[in-house]
Amino acid sequence: MAKVAFLGLGVMGYPMAGHLKTRGGHDVTVFNRTTAKAEKWAAEFGGSAKATPKEAVEGAEIVFACVGNDDDLRQVVVGDDGAFAGMGAETIFVDNTTASADVARELHEIGKAKGISFIDAPVSGGQAGAENGQLTVMCGGDEDAYARAEPVIMNFAKSCKLMGAPGAGQLTKMVNQICIAGLLQGLSEGMNFGQKAGLDMEKVIDVISKGAAGSWQMENRASTMCEGKFDFGFAIDWMRKDLGICLAEANNNGARLPVTALVDQYYKHVQARGGNRWDTSSLVHLLQND
Ligand SMILES: NC(=O)c1ccc[n+]([C@@H]2O[C@H](COP(=O)([O-])OP(=O)(O)OC[C@H]3O[C@@H](n4cnc5c(N)ncnc54)[C@H](OP(=O)(O)O)[C@@H]3O)[C@@H](O)[C@H]2O)c1
Repeated sequence: MAKVAFLGLGVMGYPMAGHLKTRGGHDVTVFNRTTAKAEKWAAEFGGSAKATPKEAVEGAEIVFACVGNDDDLRQVVVGDDGAFAGMGAETIFVDNTTASADVARELHEIGKAKGISFIDAPVSGGQAGAENGQLTVMCGGDEDAYARAEPVIMNFAKSCKLMGAPGAGQLTKMVNQICIAGLLQGLSEGMNFGQKAGLDMEKVIDVISKGAAGSWQMENRASTMCEGKFDFGFAIDWMRKDLGICLAEANNNGARLPVTALVDQYYKHVQARGGNRWDTSSLVHLLQND
């Protein structure tokens, strides 16, 4: 049992912190910017809630965070009353936010000067994966710190891997998002084509999902795409944040992302139709309604 802190109790963080308490039996202290959520969490899971990251991390061996983007992360880590101001030497900071590789390297360096090991550890598996404790976690950081953190991370994960140096976790998550973006546009075109052709799409999905076209997105999203249901899942605002990170990184490493850039523009179009919080499968909405 470890003394653990969790910063950021959103859709993902709330259940992840819960698993650290219920599955891991850890002593968990939480912080959330909107304090009512932290109080609700503490009442539900029996941990304690504090008003600032600095207070929440006091005495913690491992600190987790799952906030929005690079700037949010900097705010909870190195901002006024941020986590690094309250963490002792030989502690570990595990960041589950999807952020840039640059901010991971930056915070790793700042942490190192204070004896704090920073691990970038973005997750895949969505809200359902967080709630079921079945996330996939991709990490970047130092081997020793990773070895100490892995058993604690596994309380909310089905798989967790060290991918390499600081930033390697975020780079791996970028690959994940690039693969999903192009695939979802292909799936949208296939579903819309089938509907226009007058096929029974439940039968089509049933048959082709068992063949070479099968994917997680087809299994979990194709039916709702055909029904025009998007009010759930992974929000377009978050996906555009992630694709922005991928496109910026590609500018640095020279990779070409022509389809990813195009899909990002399609998402911008869906946002203009009010779809900011719609699931990423709503790309098909443009084909069905234009
Ligand atoms: N949702 C998914 O399916 C999914 C899947 C994989 C990865 N992710 C990634 O996981 C991260 C969190 O996603 P989520 O869906 O949990 O988001 P969310 O529900 O919007 O929660 C965001 C959390 O971050 C906190 N926060 C944001 N900005 C902050 C700041 N400047 N200072 C302090 N706290 C701040 C929010 O506090 P308040 O409660 O006060 O707003 C909230 O607790 C994102 O990077 C996202 O891309 C999400």
